[in-house]
Amino acid sequence: MSRAAADTVVHEIISKPSLVLTLPTGDTPKKMYQLLAKEYRKKRVDFSQVTCFNLDEYYPIKKNNKNSYNYYMNKNFWSHINIKKSNINILNGETKNTKKECDSYERKIRKNTPDLAILGLGINGHVGFNEPGSTLNSKTRLVSLSRETRKRNSKFFGSYKKIPSSALTMGMSTILSSKKIILLASGKSKRQAVKQLVEGQIDSSCPASFLRNHKNLVIILDKSAASFLK
Ligand code: GLP
Repeated sequence: MSRAAADTVVHEIISKPSLVLTLPTGDTPKKMYQLLAKEYRKKRVDFSQVTCFNLDEYYPIKKNNKNSYNYYMNKNFWSHINIKKSNINILNGETKNTKKECDSYERKIRKNTPDLAILGLGINGHVGFNEPGSTLNSKTRLVSLSRETRKRNSKFFGSYKKIPSSALTMGMSTILSSKKIILLASGKSKRQAVKQLVEGQIDSSCPASFLRNHKNLVIILDKSAASFLK
């Protein structure tokens, strides 16, 4: 799964060096980031003209908090490649004005249409932090995290109480504005969400299902994540 995703990213950057990427966090894409860093070290890919937008960030959270997505991206990807700092975009979990932060992020994405969005999948069908209930038209905004998501992600924070109850996230329409989308899912904990995404109704109960409206969607799964599919 990670190899297939990394190969696609490399291929796309080679065909368009100024590629605009939407990027995820979580456990799922870690290996893909490692493979991309390796490709960079071997001089097979150059990130110097690439621009990236991250999908989401907890709110509120300090940038240097080890659980922030800003910290994650630095540790797992940015510090290993030659991407320009000025081409890195991530929502600011320290902002005092979330509306202003989200609106300007949304405007910037609309001006720099992503060529490729790489996405993970939440066990409840969320994408970015678009929790169940998120609409097809949703834009970059402040959201409340569901109990399920907070419980699952609390393993990183040490306890449920320490995990922020909110987040900033690209909306479903923001994500869908990308020219191509690749969703990655692995492990049996994702098999129900994958089934809903692929075979269920297209509606807000599983925001990932809205991705099926996209003309250029690729879903890459391992066998466990695919095991509930007909
Ligand atoms: C997190 C992130 C998502 C991510 C998903 C799955 O909460 N907000 O962007 O795709 O949940 O995470 P994991 O890959 O660790 O299963």
